Amino acid sequence: MAKRRIRLGVSMIGLGYHLAAWRHPDAPAGGNMELPHFVRVTQAAERGLFDMAFLADGVGIRFHDEPKGALCRTSKNVQFEPLTLLSALAMVTRRVGLVATASTTYNEPYHVARKFASLDHISGGRAGWNVVTSVTDMEARNFNRDKAPGYDVRYDRAAEFVEVVRGLWESWEDDVFVRDKESGINYRPEGLHVLDHQGPHFQVKGPLNVARTPQGAPVIVQAGASDQGRELAAATADVVYAAAQTLADAQAYYRDVKGRMARYGRDPDHLKIMPGLMAVPGRTRQEAQDRYEALQQRVDPLVGLAALANYLGDLSGYDLDGPVPEPPNRRMHSRAQIFLDIARRGNLTIRQLYLSIAGGNGHRLVIGTPADIADAMEEWFHQDAADGFNILPPWLPGGLEDVVDMVVPELQRRGLFRTAYEGMTLRENLGVAPATHRRAEARKRAAMAAALGSAAQ
Ligand SMILES: Cc1cc2nc3c(=O)[nH]c(=O)nc-3n(C[C@H](O)[C@H](O)[C@H](O)COP(=O)(O)O)c2cc1C
Repeated sequence: MAKRRIRLGVSMIGLGYHLAAWRHPDAPAGGNMELPHFVRVTQAAERGLFDMAFLADGVGIRFHDEPKGALCRTSKNVQFEPLTLLSALAMVTRRVGLVATASTTYNEPYHVARKFASLDHISGGRAGWNVVTSVTDMEARNFNRDKAPGYDVRYDRAAEFVEVVRGLWESWEDDVFVRDKESGINYRPEGLHVLDHQGPHFQVKGPLNVARTPQGAPVIVQAGASDQGRELAAATADVVYAAAQTLADAQAYYRDVKGRMARYGRDPDHLKIMPGLMAVPGRTRQEAQDRYEALQQRVDPLVGLAALANYLGDLSGYDLDGPVPEPPNRRMHSRAQIFLDIARRGNLTIRQLYLSIAGGNGHRLVIGTPADIADAMEEWFHQDAADGFNILPPWLPGGLEDVVDMVVPELQRRGLFRTAYEGMTLRENLGVAPATHRRAEARKRAAMAAALGSAAQ
């Protein structure tokens, strides 16, 4: 059996993950709206043999201007629409997977099925869909509502949404297009399946007007830590993008999500759990620390408070150097809890709390030599806490290039990471299950049974 190896993705939102990323002396300040910036980032990921380049997304600005004056001090304001950007990046890369976030609350399944199927064709089998339900009211206000629907409603719709999308991706069998100019037959009619879905949220006739894709179905990624999110991941996802600070929390999450898979008849190895990891390497520990400090010093207090407000509500009425109070307004439950745990564990002040999350935003942060970072990854990988990591560079593109140039070789030396891509498609490289075509298999089984039946007569 092939040796189990670490999977790597990179979260390439904007100019990096750190709150002050755009103020880094070497960051292209307008890069979040410049194609060449993203070309450089994805090509660095591919040079590092990463499984996937990942675009988080919101359908609206998700950064509260709370306290006032915070939004104009961040770069978390404008960004490309992910599928449009990834279509362009497909043309300048060959192997790295291209994963875009799309919301199940503010889209229709037909649109999503069609766009990701198209990206899968354009990229030669490298597309992935990060399924999110869009938790913020800021997004809801762009779609005729005041508030986001509650968890149960969002996830109920999401589960049916994913099922419809998967069904639409099975509209066409693999080799159905014969395109025989002589006979005039374009496709074999028995290989076309009409979905005819009738459910509580969606009525979708189909078929999809995009042919079966190179991967059969784009990879499904799930990001969401609530009970409903975990269930959706266990039922449908190939990859989970998770957030955990400690080994014990990551192990508990890993065990829980993989444990739910048996209910759906799935092999736990076919779901790759990849927590976010902000890795800051340096040739020495001091150099790594200095690099990180240079960013920390650039965090504006208003921006720090606003980052907390996204999860805990506005704390600007409290003393920055006093203790973290009971949050006035919890917004994202799982992440809010992570933040409060960090504050209580370290007995942190408000300022210390926003500085401690300024980098990883609740994800794990490791600052050190390439060996330190490889040790940190190896520990989680070998102790059932992770199958890989979604790397969150503090700033882009340099923060990713540092990981590619320093950490990847160290992982390779340890035999923990590939030295060449195994396959052409994202599914092959991740080592997740090939996409089966349930309706084609059913048709073939029925045809076989009919043939056996008539032979027996
Ligand atoms: C690691 C991680 C990454 C996420 N990325 C996104 C994203 O890019 N866009 C988005 O709308 N929601 C994103 N979410 C939010 C989830 O979809 C979900 O709405 C939110 O976390 C609240 O639900 P939860 O309690 O299930 O986590 C992410 C969640 C996690 C844990």
